[in-house]
Amino acid sequence: MDGRRRRGWRRGTCTCATGRWTGRLSQHGVLAAGVPGELAALAHVAARHGRLPLSWSLERAARVAEKGFVPGRSYRGRVAGALDEVSFAGPAAPEFEEFRRIWRLPSAGKRWVLRQPELAMTYRRLAEGGAAEFYRGEVARRAVEFMRARGGLMREPDWAGYEPRLREPVRSTYRGHEVVGFPPPSSGGVHVAEILNILEAFDLKAMGEDTPEMVHVVVEAMRRAFADRARWLGDPDHVRVPRGLMDRGYAAGLAGGIDPARATPVDGAGQPPRAEEDVFEAERWRHTTHFAAVDEAGNWVGCTATVNTSFGSKVVVPGTGIVLNNEMDDFAAAPGVPNFFGLVGAEANAVAGGKRPLSSMSPTVVLKDGRPLLVVGAAGGPTIISQAVLAIVRAVDFGRPPGEALRGRRFHHQWRPDEVLLERSWGEGMARALRDRGHRVRWVDELGATQAVGLGRLGRLEAASDPRVEGMGATR
Ligand code: DON
Repeated sequence: MDGRRRRGWRRGTCTCATGRWTGRLSQHGVLAAGVPGELAALAHVAARHGRLPLSWSLERAARVAEKGFVPGRSYRGRVAGALDEVSFAGPAAPEFEEFRRIWRLPSAGKRWVLRQPELAMTYRRLAEGGAAEFYRGEVARRAVEFMRARGGLMREPDWAGYEPRLREPVRSTYRGHEVVGFPPPSSGGVHVAEILNILEAFDLKAMGEDTPEMVHVVVEAMRRAFADRARWLGDPDHVRVPRGLMDRGYAAGLAGGIDPARATPVDGAGQPPRAEEDVFEAERWRHTTHFAAVDEAGNWVGCTATVNTSFGSKVVVPGTGIVLNNEMDDFAAAPGVPNFFGLVGAEANAVAGGKRPLSSMSPTVVLKDGRPLLVVGAAGGPTIISQAVLAIVRAVDFGRPPGEALRGRRFHHQWRPDEVLLERSWGEGMARALRDRGHRVRWVDELGATQAVGLGRLGRLEAASDPRVEGMGATR
């Protein structure tokens, strides 16, 4: 992530009325963090659907944290970037002391084994006490104590009151396939569906994989969907998010505005049907990593978790090894003010107590005739949506097995800034073709990290890990 940032992501550089640098307040330090949700979600999933108790998995994780691991190239890069990001605070800033102590880079040429004994201890404590220990026990107590002393806002009731929400997935179709995605407050499911709905109006296969015609049309679909994201998307428990964004007729209207020969202006969001009355339900009760997994019992799982940017807020709760997220930056700090990823938002995604920030996480399952074909998801902020769309398009339109689908060259457009991010591997030819159609192009070395499991050639299961990052898919 930090690598990507150096390669040209925009940082939030605004100052708010008080003259404080809101970009940074939402990105680093105690004000940047929201209540962590991942453990509550994992505990819920393990209890309801898992074969292994969470305590077993936590014990394994504790052993890894204790024994340590040798960080690879990209991990080291992220650590270096994150340390660089907090250098503005000066070497002695107590907020980042723990982070700097644990993630101290060794001198050049020296082998680095990263051991996290405090984290191991915390995992063991959680293995014993469960999620309650995290939200109402020692971790919450220490975190709140630390916040209180340093101007942070979270208090015990914020932690104790955290509950995972079970939500109905969003369902759409794409060329005879069913697409099952993650609903708001992630924008992922809605906009993966919206982009695919728009693309159905075009015969991508006839255009040819990776031709300028195809790339242009997909970019135009992304621009329109991201303009809608900026206007309409937020936490449905707090704002009205129109279901009509996924309406096929609405998408057909947007597709009608796409000129295959040139970029047409997208000045703002569209007007989805029944925007006021047909909205996502508020459900009353009842550094991003994506896992895609399939087991022999036929379970297909896509799971995305995030602390937002690398090492989140860079605040480590002393004595616990727990890094707090910087999810506050996924809110819109003010209308039109770009966040770390350059995304702008509106009232729908304004900050409010108890509200969840907007996300782009897009864990998606694609089914054909009721049987799963692909489970896919990604890391990389808003590019997650584009990565999921591209993987699905490559699988469905071009028949690519997962490994090939993930190797495919990537591009991304998020409406604002009005430019296409293009991986360098495309070469000047594609850039020229897009410029000829009226697009502004910005080069990036690599875009994102997608993980997928799906049916490969001959119908065999294939696990694929993005070749842009270390690691590999495991198939038994
Ligand atoms: O939920 C989101 O959209 C962001 N918090 C994701 C950030 C992300 O993917 C960063 N990692 N690579």
